[in-house]
Amino acid sequence: MKKEMKICPAIFPLPVIMIATYNDDGTIDVMNAAWGTPFDTNQIELNISDSHRTTENIRKRKAFSVSLANVDNMVAADYVGMVSAKNVKDKFEKTHWRAHKSDIVDAPILDDFPYSMECTLECFKEDYGIIGNIKRLLVDDKYFDENGKINLAKMRIIAYDPFNHGYYVVGEKVGQAFSEGRKLM
Ligand SMILES: Cc1cc2nc3c(=O)[nH]c(=O)nc-3n(C[C@H](O)[C@H](O)[C@H](O)COP(=O)(O)O)c2cc1C
Repeated sequence: MKKEMKICPAIFPLPVIMIATYNDDGTIDVMNAAWGTPFDTNQIELNISDSHRTTENIRKRKAFSVSLANVDNMVAADYVGMVSAKNVKDKFEKTHWRAHKSDIVDAPILDDFPYSMECTLECFKEDYGIIGNIKRLLVDDKYFDENGKINLAKMRIIAYDPFNHGYYVVGEKVGQAFSEGRKLM
């Protein structure tokens, strides 16, 4: 028997997305966003509130970068989702992460994450959030296997749980999409 629960956007796993932008004074801001998703093959959608410093920064610079958090940076990833650069001057300093400026978009790239997407702003959605164009995807070479394929399990990326706000590590590969189903064809 199934039990009825209070409604929430019960999609699991949700990503733990780090959105990195530049503040007006050139310092870095990073925020945590779970409500992000692909929009097109070269676009992502981020459902972020207008009240965030990140959103202001994106409006001004028309650019941002996105990284997926892993176990190694979980504590600071949670921290940047709990405090705003509007209230905490040294938000990025506190994380001890490293970053460098992208040479193709006006945004920082976080060095301590398995991969990053450098994005330009496509548009603000009418109701809520933004669409970004992915201009480059960079993956740390330590995550490639001997056949040049990305080993996702090695990244130990974390996922967010909308029921109890847990973080879960994503790891075990159990099948191959567009292939397993052939068994029933
Ligand atoms: C796990 C987690 C997920 C979050 N997801 C979102 C989200 O999808 N959209 C959003 O607007 N805020 C989200 N937040 C809240 C922002 O990260 C938070 O308000 C942050 O302080 C904004 O920072 P800023 O003002 O420096 O940009 C999330 C926070 C956490 C901890």
